Amino acid sequence: MHPVYFDNNATTPLHPRVREAMLPWMGERYGNPSSLHGFGQAARNAVEEAREKVAALLGVRPPELVFTASGTEANNAVLFHRARGGQGHLVISAFEHPSIREAAARLEREGVEVTRVSPAGDGVVPAAEVVRALRPDTLLVALMLANNELGTLQPVVEVAAACRERGVPVLCDAVQAVGKIPVDAPALGVDYLVLGAHKFYGPLGAAALWVHKGVELTGHLVGGSQERRRRAGTENVPAIVGLGEAAAVAREELTARGAHLVALRDRFEAELARRLPDAIFHCQAAPRLPNTSHVAFPGAEGESLLIRLDLAGFAVSTGSACSSGAVEPSKTLLAIGLSPEEALSSLRISFGLFNTQEEVDAFLDALEREVGALRRVSPVAVVQP
Ligand SMILES: Cc1ncc(COP(=O)(O)O)c(C=O)c1O
Repeated sequence: MHPVYFDNNATTPLHPRVREAMLPWMGERYGNPSSLHGFGQAARNAVEEAREKVAALLGVRPPELVFTASGTEANNAVLFHRARGGQGHLVISAFEHPSIREAAARLEREGVEVTRVSPAGDGVVPAAEVVRALRPDTLLVALMLANNELGTLQPVVEVAAACRERGVPVLCDAVQAVGKIPVDAPALGVDYLVLGAHKFYGPLGAAALWVHKGVELTGHLVGGSQERRRRAGTENVPAIVGLGEAAAVAREELTARGAHLVALRDRFEAELARRLPDAIFHCQAAPRLPNTSHVAFPGAEGESLLIRLDLAGFAVSTGSACSSGAVEPSKTLLAIGLSPEEALSSLRISFGLFNTQEEVDAFLDALEREVGALRRVSPVAVVQP
């Protein structure tokens, strides 16, 4: 069997329609969208068409969208815009993506106070805790729509409603949600929303930041007047065209896509529970994305399992990070109350549009075999907290 990719929360393959749409812009079609001649105007039209497609997916007005090069850039832009100057207070969830966590940590070093609200054991951040953390000097609340490791959905609507009453702006990182579940940005009630093309069958190098009408965003990159002066730099036309097409395809396919992913995931989880009854499924009862399973295999070390599965032809992920030679457990898994040992024996399996039931069945065989082999050969690494 060909190598099978079950790491679709890390990045996704290009949808064939996206590739088709992009190819001319990497060949015979080119131009700087700011140029006044025909080449430039064709590129401008392509960028604006893409903006309309992304706007249609989110239910927003095209001029409210700012194209960026990555989700990281968009998240950074909002945090550094709202909390410059070393004063004030930020509220973030403790398991935001590093593009928010690390940006907040830098601002904290500059004097901004940061409250990190922990998720509960079910992988959901309690809305009441976020609201309780608000202060008169709170500059921004950042709460993701779907967690990248666990796939759990967060109470963004509730939090945004409470923040609106107090005049506190909200950033919603929807990078993992867009293209997997319906996302109606205005209905969430947030001020800023971020998505990234490469998480839903679009290319690397294009993302978008929705800024609610009337909400401020000072350009974080300074230079030309692109993106209504909110993001200087010549637009990445092929990637933006790809993002637009990915949004159009997602809009058409969202319902079928969700059903396909849920079918793959539910079969995987049911069959795995039957074959390895001691496998522990994290956050299974919470509202969650249709494509993500996170499972601990007690007695099997996650990194070793990942490598064995890779050699067997299956790509999955652990949330652990390697720092100074030691494997550290995922902060997200620790935040939901797992022990370091449990966290280090966990795998994230994120299914995608192009995965099949046959691939899931072959994976289950490999998983059963490799977990068994690992439990025979290696004791679990025990990390002191
Ligand atoms: C929830 C979330 N936010 C932001 C990002 C960053 O996006 P990018 O890879 O486009 O910088 C990711 C990517 O892993 C993510 O999962």
